[in-house]
Amino acid sequence: MSSAISPAAWVAAHLPASRSPRDAAEAYAPANIALCKYWGKREESFKLPLTGSLSISMGALGTRMRIAPAAADSLRINGADLSPRDKAFQRLFAFLDLLRPAGQAFCVDSTNTLPMAAGLASSASAFAAAVLAVEKLYGWVLDGPTRSRLARLGSGSACRSVYEGFVEWHAGIEPDGGDSFAEPVAPAWPELRVGVLTVSAAPKAVGSSEGMKRTADTSRLYRAWPEQVARDLPKIRRAVLEHDFDTLGATAEQNALAMHATMIAAWPPVLYWQPETVAALHQVHALRAGGISVYATLDAGPNVKLLHPAGDTPALLETFPAMRVIDPSAAL
Ligand code: DP6
Repeated sequence: MSSAISPAAWVAAHLPASRSPRDAAEAYAPANIALCKYWGKREESFKLPLTGSLSISMGALGTRMRIAPAAADSLRINGADLSPRDKAFQRLFAFLDLLRPAGQAFCVDSTNTLPMAAGLASSASAFAAAVLAVEKLYGWVLDGPTRSRLARLGSGSACRSVYEGFVEWHAGIEPDGGDSFAEPVAPAWPELRVGVLTVSAAPKAVGSSEGMKRTADTSRLYRAWPEQVARDLPKIRRAVLEHDFDTLGATAEQNALAMHATMIAAWPPVLYWQPETVAALHQVHALRAGGISVYATLDAGPNVKLLHPAGDTPALLETFPAMRVIDPSAAL
């Protein structure tokens, strides 16, 4: 389905009129990991998803972004200047063009508190931080859903990174995405930990936008995906609200594996897994058989994230000494 208006026209109609900037503004947004995944769009230009999704924000792991009006656009990430020919440069400024008056250039300084080498996606936190920094720069006061709709235009999963804790993105049905935004479900559980096993920090061969499009276009298994989400999303939401860790973990792991099954059945196949990915999944299953509550989730890449209660971290570190442990409830 294509929308009657463009994202730029939609943003212009929904932003406050005041566009006189302060000297600079800085904001932080966390990364997030989906427990019920977003995989596939019903509309490309507004990044409208086929299904809802639910994530947990990563607390102190995310992106801090400082934006100042300037004579020309510049972007520094983790202390290194990017060339205007760089894809990340072009993607960020194309997004900022939606939010700033024509002709206004920005100097952007972005720092990821998540090590890039950990192989965790930083685009969601970057687009969310960009929205929050521009909001401060122009002195707007936006509500959560508006921030979320704006961040979605940068990257779908960014719409969940404007909040801490457990967050649900409502798929919506409107053609311009007015009803497609995220909302908080519950604060992060203090006892929940996410262990990150970095199999590879290399940039992925197939980006998530392309991977999901190829899956939707060519994978016969993709027809089952909305059904999978219709089953998993309410289960995960209920498990979050009831602090039912085993239901949360088991449903999140099955959801992630089902998403990867749809990708693997695409053509050409979208196969993110490396041998170490599969080995880690087998180790997780063996640990579970031995009584440790640990569940795996994977995004558009080979790295494995291990959902587990804090009490099991020491036992997991024995099997996975290189595991990086994240506490989603830790303040920045
Ligand atoms: C597997 O949000 O990166 O991480 O909307 O095309 O920018 P675009 O895709 P993106 O996709 C994230 C996919 C995922 C699952 C998820 O985060 O829900």
